[in-house]
Amino acid sequence: MSEHTAPTPGLDAAEIAEPGAVTVVVPTFNESANIRRLLRLITESVPARLPCEVVFVDDSTDDTPEVIRAAAQDCPFPVAVLHRAEPVGGLGGAVVEGIKAATSEWIVVMDGDCQHPPSLIPELVATGERANAGLVVASRYIEGGSRAGLAGGYRVTVSRGATWLTKALFPRRLHGISDPMSGFFAIRRSAVSAEVLKPLGYKILLELAVRSRPGRVAEVPFVFQDRFAGESKSTAQEGFRFLRHLAGLRTASPVARMVGFGLIGASGFVPNLVGLWALTALGTHYVPAEILANQLGVAWNFLLIEQLLFRDRRAHRRRWDRLGRFALLANADLVLRIPLIALLVGRFGMGALPATALALAMTFVLRFVGTEALVYLPRRRGSRARRAA
Ligand code: GDD
Ligand code: MN
Repeated sequence: MSEHTAPTPGLDAAEIAEPGAVTVVVPTFNESANIRRLLRLITESVPARLPCEVVFVDDSTDDTPEVIRAAAQDCPFPVAVLHRAEPVGGLGGAVVEGIKAATSEWIVVMDGDCQHPPSLIPELVATGERANAGLVVASRYIEGGSRAGLAGGYRVTVSRGATWLTKALFPRRLHGISDPMSGFFAIRRSAVSAEVLKPLGYKILLELAVRSRPGRVAEVPFVFQDRFAGESKSTAQEGFRFLRHLAGLRTASPVARMVGFGLIGASGFVPNLVGLWALTALGTHYVPAEILANQLGVAWNFLLIEQLLFRDRRAHRRRWDRLGRFALLANADLVLRIPLIALLVGRFGMGALPATALALAMTFVLRFVGTEALVYLPRRRGSRARRAA
């Protein structure tokens, strides 16, 4: 690859488009049987004029790293293995590590099981150069592409539903991306702001498109191949991780978080009413029953809020501390509401209904702001340290 020939006489060097170099980032988890074939296909695909390096980011428990090191001996380009002691963020976390280690102008991310045809690597980069794009997605859903290798009707249905839901949640950010679930794409290094990324599981393209905003997007069709060896590492647990990832992305802004907070709060009526029904059926007086049932709603809200809204802000306090503060705020809300309504009616002459609506809205906003500030805000020292970093 490092054969340098003198420019052909008569050919103006400036006329030859600068191809840009590429770093291929491959996340691997127990893929030893696929490595040799993958590296051979990459070798056959990447022309000598396109400088290339391959970075494997590995979380394997088998001998994949050793297999990679051995196979690298036969490669005409540099091959690196970053083996992680802890698989933080799973597949997406691995890809971000690889992106940080990449030195080329272009980064191509692809799976290690040969489902993504390496023959497309030069085309992804060339398309990006031609379209002056920051991101080029290999898509199964444009003409010429297909998802032939997606095993079984179940996976196809899930994949379709997930694509639809995701596009519906991010219509603007995903404009021009027909396949936001794809794990095969090229991104310009300058278009990645690694420090804003919070990768969680498989959908790293979605993470990049929503948080990094890579600018102009192009697409290239591809046929999703059959896995060469081994089996998919995707599990039902990975499906839940995806839903959490979606929730985290969608509630990144305070306004969106407040809407989420309200929806979760409304869903808390269900356990609250069920609890009330059960307790009164057991013969509990309705006043203690109300109070107890309300705690059920509070617990439900706390669980959902922790999982979906403040996942990445839980570390500042211990769980019991958070739960205590959250419960205190929720109950203060109840205790406050009645005197507030009395004030609005008695002092300001409002009708009972608008006064109740206003009091509900006010205590809701107070509760949201209080939860953000008193339960999940990083403590002062921490925030100063982060700002300095
Ligand atoms: N480092 C690391 N850590 N790699 C992982 C991990 C992990 O925790 N989990 C999976 N991988 C690697 C696998 O070894 C493989 O190289 C690649 O990530 C994709 O994993 P698969 O398990 O083969 O995924 P899939 O075929 O079910 O799904 C792929 O195709 C989907 C449809 O395009 C992925 O690319 C998905 O992101 C994609 O949505
Ligand atoms: Mn696969």
